[in-house]
Amino acid sequence: MTGAGARPFVIAVDGPSAAGKGTLARRLAAHYGFAFLETGLLYRAVGWRLLAGGQDPADPKAAVAAATQITMADLDDAALRREDVAQAASKVAAIPEVRRQLLGLQRDFAARPTLPDGRPAPGIVLDGRDIGTVVCPDADVKIFVTASVEERARRRYKELLERGENAIYSRVLQDMKDRDNRDSGRVVSPMVPAADALVIDSTALDADAAFAAAVELVDERRGRVD
Ligand code: C5P
Repeated sequence: MTGAGARPFVIAVDGPSAAGKGTLARRLAAHYGFAFLETGLLYRAVGWRLLAGGQDPADPKAAVAAATQITMADLDDAALRREDVAQAASKVAAIPEVRRQLLGLQRDFAARPTLPDGRPAPGIVLDGRDIGTVVCPDADVKIFVTASVEERARRRYKELLERGENAIYSRVLQDMKDRDNRDSGRVVSPMVPAADALVIDSTALDADAAFAAAVELVDERRGRVD
C-alpha cells in the first residue's frame, strides 16, 4: 500500500458469475469516482491466450507460461466475454501458480489505482471471487453478491439471447453449475464469502436495492476512515 494518509479506499466485491456483482461494482466505482478492476478478465485473458494458441487450459505448464505474459493492456479484448473463454478461465484459475502470477498484478493496481484517463484514483473497486479473502484481505469494505444458480442461469441465458447468440437454458444452467463447482471446490483461493463481508442475495433484491445497501455500508466506513 502507499504511504500513510494516501492509502486508497478499497472495496472488494466477490461472488459467483451473473449474481450482479459486476453491475454493483461498476456503479460503486462511478458513484465514488474510484478505479474499477474486473479481476475475472485477468483469468479470462490467460484462458483466451491458451484457446487461441490451440492449447489446453487445464495444462499447468502452458497456463503458467501464458499467465506470465498477461498485462493490463490485454483486458479490453471483446473475445474475453465468450462463454468458452469463461470456462477456460475457471480451469486456469484452479492452478495455484497462475493465481500467484495474477495476484501481483491485482495488488499493484489496488495499491496505486488509476482512472481510465490515467489520473490517480482515491479508491478502487475490485470484483472477483477472492478479493476480500486473498487479494485485499484488508479491504475497507467487503461485499459478497450471490443469487440462486437457477436465477443466475436465467439472467445469463437472457443476456446471451439479447447478444444474438444461440443458447439453450439447460446447457447454460449446467455450465454455470460446472463453473461454480470449480470455483468453490478448488484448493487454492476457493470462492467463499470473507467472514466480515456483507452478503447480498440478489435473487429477490433488485439492482437499486443492492446498490443502496452497499452505499450505506461504504458511507459508514468512509466516515470512520476520513
Ligand atoms: O468474473 P468472471 O466470470 O469474469 O471470472 C471468470 C473466471 O475467473 C471465474 O469463473 C473464476 O474461475 C476466475 N476468477 C477467479 N478469481 C477472481 C476472478 C475470477 O478465480 N478473483
